[in-house]
Amino acid sequence: MSIVVTGATGHLGRLVVEELLTRGVPAEEVVAGGRRVEELTGLAGRGVRVARIDYDDPATLDAALGTGDRLLLVSGSEPGARLQQHRNVLDAATRAGVALLGYTSILRADDSPLALAEDHRQTEADIRASGLPAVLLRNGWYTENYAQALQEAQATGSISASAGDGRVASATRADYAAAAAAVLAGEGHEGAVYELSGDTAWTIDELAAAAAEVLGREVSHRRLTTDEHVATLTGVGLDEPTARFVAGMDAAIAQGALDSTTGDLSRLAGRPTTPLVEALRQLA
Ligand SMILES: NC(=O)c1ccc[n+]([C@@H]2O[C@H](COP(=O)([O-])OP(=O)(O)OC[C@H]3O[C@@H](n4cnc5c(N)ncnc54)[C@H](OP(=O)(O)O)[C@@H]3O)[C@@H](O)[C@H]2O)c1
Repeated sequence: MSIVVTGATGHLGRLVVEELLTRGVPAEEVVAGGRRVEELTGLAGRGVRVARIDYDDPATLDAALGTGDRLLLVSGSEPGARLQQHRNVLDAATRAGVALLGYTSILRADDSPLALAEDHRQTEADIRASGLPAVLLRNGWYTENYAQALQEAQATGSISASAGDGRVASATRADYAAAAAAVLAGEGHEGAVYELSGDTAWTIDELAAAAAEVLGREVSHRRLTTDEHVATLTGVGLDEPTARFVAGMDAAIAQGALDSTTGDLSRLAGRPTTPLVEALRQLA
């Protein structure tokens, strides 16, 4: 039995592999997968098995997966295209007879107003249809998503957003990775749906206050309407569809898309999630 982690060349997957090792899973029972396998030599040197995994290439999936394996499917990076990519992984997992599939979905996938949620809803439906023993890891926002906001705060003394007083229960990638590793290495998670988020849901006012504390300077919340946000983003070079997509995320936050604090993450990780100020300090 192996634990196969896709996306291990990326930020989250790599942290999941590290967490598995920290939890005492023997390195030879862990398979780190990704397309850019050259990124995995450090892990290979520590005894972790490395596999080239390309969601668009079923042969790589068949080669990486074995009967009884546990598999973490880290959601792909290309909205739309990733639906078929995820299906390819589910098909290969079925062929191999994996014992457990974990999928990194999105917080409250059933009713999330985030545009990104549609792919996750569809993949969750595909997972149910596949009949695979599965666990849904519905991840909320990474606090790291606000690295750019921190840079803006440093440069201008303000954070521009159109999320109003919407709250974000963010957690760090390391927090989400700890929960994922606990599930992969643990027992009894088949069929579970975990709503993973930070212990505390903060507003952009509170983000500005946290940034001020970390940067040691005044930081205000520059409140924008959605149209003003789009205009600001196109003004710094984003194309209009991307600007609308980004501003749409803030609109969804204003509607409460990311404010759930279920405690699932800290329960699984066995520790509180990283407080906002501490996470921003790490980013700074
Ligand atoms: N919750 C949030 O706030 C949030 C924010 C951003 C993204 N996400 C989602 O969470 C996922 C993980 O986040 P992250 O920060 O770790 O992203 P990341 O650093 O960009 O890593 C993405 C990983 O996915 C792999 N991947 C993408 N397409 C693939 C394909 N077609 N075949 C095989 N591997 C593929 C990449 O492998 P290679 O690089 O080797 O090709 C990489 O290892 C993202 O892919 C995205 O779906 C969530």
